[in-house]
Amino acid sequence: MQDMARLDVTEMFHGISFPGHLHTQESLQLALRFPFRDTDVLIVSYPKSGTTWMQEILTLVSSRGDPHLNQTVPNWTRAPWLEQYYSAAVLEASSATQRTITTHLPHHLLGPALQGSKAKVIYVSRNPKDVVVSFYHFHKMANFLPGAGTFDEFLNRFLEGTLNFGSWFDHIKGWTSQTASMDNLLHVTYEEMSLDLHGAIRRVSSFLQCPLVEEEVNKSVQHCSFASMKNNNMVNYTLIAHEIMDHSKGSFMRNGKTGEWKKMFTEEQNQYFESVFKSKMHDCTEFVWEVQDQEETHAKEHISL
Ligand code: A3P
Repeated sequence: MQDMARLDVTEMFHGISFPGHLHTQESLQLALRFPFRDTDVLIVSYPKSGTTWMQEILTLVSSRGDPHLNQTVPNWTRAPWLEQYYSAAVLEASSATQRTITTHLPHHLLGPALQGSKAKVIYVSRNPKDVVVSFYHFHKMANFLPGAGTFDEFLNRFLEGTLNFGSWFDHIKGWTSQTASMDNLLHVTYEEMSLDLHGAIRRVSSFLQCPLVEEEVNKSVQHCSFASMKNNNMVNYTLIAHEIMDHSKGSFMRNGKTGEWKKMFTEEQNQYFESVFKSKMHDCTEFVWEVQDQEETHAKEHISL
């Protein structure tokens, strides 16, 4: 990957900024025309929502809890990002009967390519207040992203949708509005994985029609815990050159908690966030990062903003 640093380049594509590192106009165009197979599994997320965690879970589910692949193959090879320039070659070389693919693209761009496909889609979301905090810290270590500025400036850019990868609001609304019409779409939240990783893995494995026995679920839980992933070079991004991700300025596996925004937001920032959230999400009938319990039978519990 180091042959394509382009650290100061930004690609503007359909009004959204993407890092020139790993993204080109061509690779983005190709993603929109990608010929999905019915057997593909697609992880979709806005950055910092638990993408890497879901990549780890999918590898473990398909390996029935055996961590061999997780510990020997980098996550971007196991589950390449569709819109990044290397993915065509990785996917072509893949001998897997079920390919796992990752994307940060919004539904209004990728929807047409998925139309008519039976590919399974797993949408991962997270409380946006924690997303913005995680993204802010990530900007400090990721040299392929623009300077983070102050947290106040960063928060404004997040709320107006001008950060790299576009608007969180467009992303979540675009994908979650498909849940009624797409029966091949599963929505999993970061909070659900945090509260009940065992249950989340069961839910994912049954969606993939790959039921696991208890021992296999337990092994999966163990290998995709925050501590295991933080120590696993194949997923903690320490294989990436220092010029691209500066690990002296932070860790990709930074904190791994929910509700950390409370330590970062001022009261004023919180009020502003809430007002923008309410105006942009007013047409959504419920908060979209509700947590469902393991059996999906009990009443849904709201995660407070
Ligand atoms: P924090 O910065 O809040 O720690 P993504 O993979 O979408 O870029 O998301 C990265 C975020 O997910 C980071 O959040 C990272 O620490 C967190 N994360 C990754 N693996 C995790 C795990 N096993 N448990 C909890 N959080 C995890």
